Amino acid sequence: MKAIKQDRFLSFQTETYDHYGASGWTANFLGHRMVYSSASEHMKAISTSHRDCFAIEPIRVGNGAITPFTGRGVSSADGEKWQSSRELIKPYFERASIRNLNRLKGHVDRLLANIPTDASTVDMQPLFQRYFLDTSTDFLFGETVDSLRQPQMSWPSNDMRVVQAGLRLRLQLSSFMFLHRDQKWHAACKRIHNWLDGYIDKAYLQLAEETAEGKPATYPNGKPRDDFLWTIARQMPDKLELRTQLTAVWIPSNETTSILLSNTLWALARHPDVTERIREEIRRCNDQPLTFEVLRSLTYLRWTINESHRLYPISLQTVRACIEDTALPGGDSNSSTKPIFCAKGDIMHCNRYLMHRDVRTWGPDAEEFRPDRWRLARPMWNFAPFGGGPRICPAHIMVDTECSYVIFRILQQFKTIEARDDKPYTAVMRVGPSNKYGCKVGFVPAG
Ligand code: HEM
Repeated sequence: MKAIKQDRFLSFQTETYDHYGASGWTANFLGHRMVYSSASEHMKAISTSHRDCFAIEPIRVGNGAITPFTGRGVSSADGEKWQSSRELIKPYFERASIRNLNRLKGHVDRLLANIPTDASTVDMQPLFQRYFLDTSTDFLFGETVDSLRQPQMSWPSNDMRVVQAGLRLRLQLSSFMFLHRDQKWHAACKRIHNWLDGYIDKAYLQLAEETAEGKPATYPNGKPRDDFLWTIARQMPDKLELRTQLTAVWIPSNETTSILLSNTLWALARHPDVTERIREEIRRCNDQPLTFEVLRSLTYLRWTINESHRLYPISLQTVRACIEDTALPGGDSNSSTKPIFCAKGDIMHCNRYLMHRDVRTWGPDAEEFRPDRWRLARPMWNFAPFGGGPRICPAHIMVDTECSYVIFRILQQFKTIEARDDKPYTAVMRVGPSNKYGCKVGFVPAG
């Protein structure tokens, strides 16, 4: 907590793992045995081969850490409840419409309209947060809050930051959670609940009208309603249960794509050679319509986004409670990773930030932003920004597509992106890590 307060949580992780060992050390923390590793073999085992010996529910729901805000849903439950929640959301994330870039176009137009064209300095981090609030409310609830046009509407992002910081503290406090009595946190939870209930009530009302009138519900523009809330509301008549399923997706989606975009642009502003290489790729496909397939074919842009995920992961670690004694396997004979024992009741932490910077995998320049390394890199479990196995982030394709699209459009519109501060990336733990100094840049429009 001291390291978090001093904004040196990531360097604290590096120092601690350097001291105790990258592939497994243990500590007694508030009465719990904690197991820590940054070895890809252990990350893989808890996510796949040994996943049945681990669970999420005891550390999120069972101890009451998240229950004032949400309950058992896709990101917090195990077993059958997780399975049914995952099946509920899966079709939505796999739909063809996720690949349709038109759903993002209007939002990106408004994002670009907010960028000064006189090369004056702008902090893109808060702008990306507003952009992402707009796209995610559109996607999840079928109605954007339109915060890029109405900045006062960005309050749900600010409240969610309070909610998630409180959730993280509660998860850390573990059995001392009774010490968490923050009235501001409870008030922010309440405001978000009321706000979500507004969308839910509207969806139920529209469902009732649809049944009464016998014709499909539509958006104001006449298109049939097909957003995430609408899809699951049909199957869920219980309001509290519906809100729980919604918050279980809303929590892990917050402060994610926006921070990825902010980190990527921050890096591009410091690497004009990389920016130029992407611009060349964009020029080559300028006369064809911009589609999901065209975006996915831009190799150098993909390497750049990978490099951003690698160096500045949005999710620091995968944490699981051990529910059955087990030994996680070590690496092959060339690996320095040893098997590690986890006893029932232990809490296992797999650190992705350190795994992504391990010189044994990435070479002596592991700390450098160098998209070219992806020409030869064949990462398996040592690159897992979205986790892996059955619980892999369901939004991973959507996230990378959205990030590529936004960067594409920005580079099409602006000739130069200049860094406007000389501060190093300094992670501050708000929800996950994000740059304390934001992403201050200046843009010069293309000719
Ligand atoms: C930069 C963007 C994002 C990153 C890096 C990211 C990363 C992750 C990671 C590491 C996990 C845990 C996977 C595991 O336990 O193995 C996860 C889970 C999840 N993410 Fe994402 N995420 C991002 C954006 C989003 C968005 C935008 C949404 C929703 C719209 C979302 C929804 C979820 C859900 C529902 C889960 C829980 C899945 C389960 O437990 O079955 N994520 N994400």
